[in-house]
Amino acid sequence: MSILIIYESKGGYTKECALTLEKYLAGKGRAVEVHAAGKENLAGYDRVVIGSAVYAGRVPARIRRFVNKNSKDLLNRPLSLFVCGTAEEFKDTYYEKNYPEQILNHADIREWFGGHIILEDHHGLKKMILSSILKGEKELHRERKDNIEPFAKFLLGS
Ligand SMILES: Cc1cc2nc3c(=O)[nH]c(=O)nc-3n(C[C@H](O)[C@H](O)[C@H](O)COP(=O)(O)O)c2cc1C
Repeated sequence: MSILIIYESKGGYTKECALTLEKYLAGKGRAVEVHAAGKENLAGYDRVVIGSAVYAGRVPARIRRFVNKNSKDLLNRPLSLFVCGTAEEFKDTYYEKNYPEQILNHADIREWFGGHIILEDHHGLKKMILSSILKGEKELHRERKDNIEPFAKFLLGS
């Protein structure tokens, strides 16, 4: 079985999740960043996983473009999704707002790997906006990396 994990990560957390997933897939998975995924022949994989974080409610445009451009191939093989973020209560909305209905219906599992916001990693206006969201705290930790191993087991078992 060969599983292609396509991800985008601006700050590194989603990348860590994608690489941890790759590790749990024990030689059956390969993680590639979405900007390099155009070179992949999706037909050569038994399954595709797409993962990214949300920023102001949006999955990065590159991921959305990849999904739209490759929807035929994605609908032709098992597909799974994961999203990273700090507001788990909105996860269903994030999927619905960012992925076409056909893709969501086709995906056999959607998982949430959480995330974190560390103010020091940001600058300028973005830092000011994040600072008001964090209400005086310097960091917000909502990691759910514990969801990665069961997700991998599902992919290997299905
Ligand atoms: C500018 C910005 C906006 C964000 N907006 C959201 C959001 O709308 N919902 C959410 O759940 N998390 C939000 N987050 C949290 C990120 O999804 C979280 O920091 C994640 O770990 C980022 O992953 P990355 O390191 O791969 O970029 C936001 C983070 C940043 C920096």
